[in-house]
Amino acid sequence: MQPVFAANWKMNHGPEEAAEFVRRFVAGFAPTSDRTVILFPSALAVAAAREGLRARPEIKVGVQNIHWEERGAFTGETSAPIARAAGADYALVGHSERRHVFGETDEQAGKKVAAGLRAGLTPVLCVGETAAERERGETAAVVLRQLRSGLAQAGRAGVAACLVAYEPVWAIGTGETATPRDAAEVHVAIRAELRALGGDGAVNVPILYGGSVNQENAAALLAADEVGGLLVGGASLDAERWCTIART
Ligand code: PGA
Repeated sequence: MQPVFAANWKMNHGPEEAAEFVRRFVAGFAPTSDRTVILFPSALAVAAAREGLRARPEIKVGVQNIHWEERGAFTGETSAPIARAAGADYALVGHSERRHVFGETDEQAGKKVAAGLRAGLTPVLCVGETAAERERGETAAVVLRQLRSGLAQAGRAGVAACLVAYEPVWAIGTGETATPRDAAEVHVAIRAELRALGGDGAVNVPILYGGSVNQENAAALLAADEVGGLLVGGASLDAERWCTIART
């Protein structure tokens, strides 16, 4: 299985900064077919990033969120077909900031995954427990509940077509990471659930780890059992740093 390196820029980098980032990144990152690299810019910078990557189609671009309807009266939202038409191949779904800052529910994540699949986007379903849930010993229960709801409308083939990202909420943007051992424990549980939901096709679904990943801890986390890639926020904003991480 090829490792996946995904950069979540969150609400940073407009179109010009995205174009400049891409110029610097491709200058330092030689074409390679042994890994998948995905950039998740702001929706308004997706086209600029895609355009800058015209000569590097192996580097993928995605959106950070989609709505589950295809079109209509949903002011401020971006549908999966619109994201696709703007150059996105992937869509983050259920990122912890969507869940905890914007109140997105498990059920909405499920509708978004299904909408992404219908539009030909690859959903990256994000799951993860809060610090309080972890302290109460609920990590596995929370993560598996989010996983089951997020994939509830995907169908078996759809499950196999998704990516999953495990991001403990307490590790996002805090400088604290799960230990490779703790990450492995959750990733192994996610794999077992994926197999139950998607059958044999789900054995190859990459399960990314995210939460304060940087160039120092990337290799150890990537080496953990069932960690098939990294979803990186803060440390992905600088092109040279991102280049180092994507070469892990
Ligand atoms: P972080 O963010 O790397 O800044 O912790 C990760 C994410 O939110 O995807």
